[in-house]
Amino acid sequence: MTSYPLFAVVPPGLEAAAAAEALERGFAGARAEPGGVAFEGDPLRANRALAIPTRVLQRVARFRARTFDELLAGATKVEWAPFGGLTPRAVAHKSRLYHTGAIAERLAQVVPAGPVELLARLDHDTCELSVDTSGEPLHRRGWRLETGAAPLRETLAAGILRLAGWRPGEALYDPMCGSGTFLIEAATWAAGRAPGAGRAFACERWCPPSPVPAWDAVPTVFGGSDRSRASVEAARRNAERAGIVLTVTEIEVGRARPPAGTGLLVCNPPYGKRSPAALHAFDRLAAALAGPFAGWRAAVLVPEPAWVPRLGRPAAHLHPLTNGGLRVDLVVAEPRSPHGR
Ligand SMILES: C[S@@+](CC[C@H](N)C(=O)[O-])C[C@H]1O[C@@H](n2cnc3c(N)ncnc32)[C@H](O)[C@@H]1O
Repeated sequence: MTSYPLFAVVPPGLEAAAAAEALERGFAGARAEPGGVAFEGDPLRANRALAIPTRVLQRVARFRARTFDELLAGATKVEWAPFGGLTPRAVAHKSRLYHTGAIAERLAQVVPAGPVELLARLDHDTCELSVDTSGEPLHRRGWRLETGAAPLRETLAAGILRLAGWRPGEALYDPMCGSGTFLIEAATWAAGRAPGAGRAFACERWCPPSPVPAWDAVPTVFGGSDRSRASVEAARRNAERAGIVLTVTEIEVGRARPPAGTGLLVCNPPYGKRSPAALHAFDRLAAALAGPFAGWRAAVLVPEPAWVPRLGRPAAHLHPLTNGGLRVDLVVAEPRSPHGR
C-alpha cells in the first residue's frame, strides 16, 4: 500500500485523542505533535478512516531556507508532477523569509499550477513543504446539510467522544442534540463505517485506489432530543442521509429519559455566559443529571471552568478546547450514583 510521511491537522486540544484514533485505525507509530498527529501511511486511507482531523497533509520536503535562492533550490529538488497542479500558500514564524505572499509567489514559479494546496511552513529558517491530501475540509462528511443553532463541527464532536472515553457499546444520549452531530458521528463509528467513506479527496490524483476501511459493528443504544422542532427534524434528516437509524424526540431537557440503565450523556448546551435562557437550560441539564441520568456518565461543553459547579458533579477530567474560535472546556464526570439509583 502507498505510504508517505503524513501530518493530520486537528482542532486544538484533540492531538492526543487523534493520535489514539490513528493508532486504532492501524497507523502504527502515530504520535501527537503540536497542532496534529504525525504518522506514515496511505493518505487516501487516512482521509477516509480518521474522524478527528480537519485535513491530512503529506510532508514532501524539509530544508534550511534563509534566502529565496535557498527556498527555490529546496523546492526544485522535489518531483512535483505526480501531484498535478498546485497552489502555494505560506506561513512564517521567526524566520528571515517572513513575507508569506512573496514566498508563495516564488514557489508558484517552480511548481505546476493547479488546485491542490501546497503549504510552505517556515519556522526558525527551516522550510517544510507539505501537500494537502484532503481538498474539502474533512468535517464536511456530506450528511449534515441542515443545521440548527450553533452546530458543532463533526471533527470536534468525534474528538469529544474520544476524550470522554466513549466507545461503541456504551449507550449514548444527547438531550440538546441540535442537528444530531454527536449522535450521527457516534453511530457511524459504532456501525463500523469510515467517516470519509463515499467522499472524494485531493490525493486521489496521485494515490492508487485502495479498499474503503471498515471495522466491526458494535450494537449500541442511541437516543437524543431537543426542544426545537426544527432541530429535531434536521437531525432526523441528517441521520437518514448518513444511513443511520436514530430516535430523536422533541422535548425539553428536563423531560428526557435515559434509553438504558447506564451510558454517556453528551451535550453541547447553548452558551452565553450571561444569557438567562442559557443559564436556565444549563440548570435543567444539571437537574436531569441529578435525576433520571444520575447513573450515567456525562460529557458537557461549558463556556468556562467556573460553570463546572453548576453541573452538580465534580469533573473527573476538564479538557480545554475551542469551538468556533471560542475557548470552551469539556467536563467529563462520573455517574452520580454507581447503579443509577
Ligand atoms: C449549541 S446547540 C447544540 C448543537 C448540536 N450539538 C449540533 O451540533 O447541532 C444547543 C441546542 O440546545 C437546544 N436547547 C436549548 N435549550 C434547551 C432545553 N431547555 N431543552 C432542550 N433543548 C434545548 C437548542 O434548541 C439547540 O439545538
